[in-house]
Amino acid sequence: MKYFFANWKMYLDYTETAALAEQLLKEKISLARTTLAVFPVSIATASVVKAFEGVKIGVGAQNVAWVPKGAYTGAVSALMYKDIGCQYALVGHSERRYIFNETDEAVRKKFEAALDAGLIPVLCVGETMEDREAGKHEYRIKKQLMKVFEGQNFPDSTFFIVAYEPVWAIGSGNPCDSVEAARMHMIIKQELAKYTSVAAPVLYGGSVDEKNVVSYVSLDPIAGVLVGKSSIHADSLLRMVRLLEENA
Ligand code: PGA
Repeated sequence: MKYFFANWKMYLDYTETAALAEQLLKEKISLARTTLAVFPVSIATASVVKAFEGVKIGVGAQNVAWVPKGAYTGAVSALMYKDIGCQYALVGHSERRYIFNETDEAVRKKFEAALDAGLIPVLCVGETMEDREAGKHEYRIKKQLMKVFEGQNFPDSTFFIVAYEPVWAIGSGNPCDSVEAARMHMIIKQELAKYTSVAAPVLYGGSVDEKNVVSYVSLDPIAGVLVGKSSIHADSLLRMVRLLEENA
């Protein structure tokens, strides 16, 4: 089984999201070897959950607030996403970290809140090009993991996912080479083992498209892909999922 997670970011409005969900439904896509989930814009999440009722396509939140309810203008909590039927939540996506100044502390609280709410957190980690050029890419990932996992005592039954998403590869058309991505995945797995016995799947994200998706999912340490731009058109999303079904 490989994961195909489609992060639709803020690319599509409510109507466009509904149309894309509708197209995916029409295709009766085979998902024998793929765990497929989509992460729509917040205002469309509930209607996508409804549209996918009875089919094997999961839905997740792009971002969650860590408090369940209250005076938090503009926020939507992990618990509220769970309540409408979401299964997953992205946590610490680099666009949240770098554009919206989300701190390591906030990422940790969101990760905990997602677990508490019964969502599967998808923790995104990744270095900047500056980190990589300074030889600090492994250090950056280890630090991001430490900030979430140090001092935690999650039960063995806990389930979460990690996504390795180098900041420089996201939306740039400059993906991380799959062999290097797999090496970073091994480092993430080794680092995680210091904190938890939970065997979290690790996905790759950053400029994944139809041409390169197989190069990632055919490598053992890479449990799947988190795809942005190439996942917002039904035809290319479906072609990539078919490639996973055939090659993963
Ligand atoms: P991209 O985005 O596929 O557009 O590079 C990936 C992501 O941000 O999850």
